Amino acid sequence: MIVNASAPGKAILVGEHAVVYGRPAIALPLSSIRANAVYRRTRSPLTLIAEDLARPPLKINADAIESSDPLALMVGLTMQFLGLENVFGEISIQSDIPIASGLGSGAAVSAAIGRVIARLHGTNLPDEALNRLVFEVEKQHHGTPSGIDNTVVVYELPVYFVKGGSVEFIDIADPLWIVLADTGIASLTRDAVADVRSRVHLAPCQTARLFDDIGAIVIESRRCIERGNPTRLGELMTANHRLLRALNVSSPELDHLVDAALDAGALGSKLSGGGRGGNIIALVDKESAPAVKQSLVEAGARNVMFTVAGQGSQIDDSD
Ligand code: MEV
Repeated sequence: MIVNASAPGKAILVGEHAVVYGRPAIALPLSSIRANAVYRRTRSPLTLIAEDLARPPLKINADAIESSDPLALMVGLTMQFLGLENVFGEISIQSDIPIASGLGSGAAVSAAIGRVIARLHGTNLPDEALNRLVFEVEKQHHGTPSGIDNTVVVYELPVYFVKGGSVEFIDIADPLWIVLADTGIASLTRDAVADVRSRVHLAPCQTARLFDDIGAIVIESRRCIERGNPTRLGELMTANHRLLRALNVSSPELDHLVDAALDAGALGSKLSGGGRGGNIIALVDKESAPAVKQSLVEAGARNVMFTVAGQGSQIDDSD
């Protein structure tokens, strides 16, 4: 017996980091890059195989629920939720979401594992329950996550997210043409989030002002998305990047790619996700898309992806 399940990657459009401190953020699912979990029945206790995550096979023990390993923990949480005593077989993770690049690989892998275990027992995990379980695992990955990554990955819809609030989905009036470009530098969200936390302690008022300015950008960005104003949305994204630089979560490589996208005619550009490394996101239009892509490749981006959000979030192209 073979059972499959999957979950998408994600990109933060605006609002990362400030969202950890109660300001809103907007994230988009990336439906064409996915983590897939493939289950194969065997007579042995459950083993997870995750070569794409550069990990050796992992045997799941009875104490998975207490594991410090995020994949084992996700198995344990799912088994507990479904009331399963044990699971036999093999789950193989195949993921085309680059790890440590701000594109939600961790949350997507967890969601795919939860879904495949439920499915092989003839049931589905409701999105709301899966979201809660993946959030538990995210806490182990990131320390103090806001919950935006698990939410956008599980529901696979554009979200306007406020920590602790109810999930709000956004209607995209005019499709958003987006280019994502990877610096090729792996960066752990947990580290960037921890550095921002130190800054909050050292300079609470100044940092709160930066968060407030980011929050205002997110609120206006939502209006632009819902009313179809890409020109203003682009300006807001670039302004968001400046604030993320002031928060010290950018890097010379990220700034270089942001500048390359803007010089080639992008409507706006910023880092996306935890920062320090990983990806930038650029908002483009039909006319500027090829030049922006070309400029990012020439500027040294390791992987350039193009997606249109609001008409099925399709990744059409990548280098
Ligand atoms: C990571 O995708 C987004 C951050 O804001 C962290 C979080 O919200 O948990 C940097």
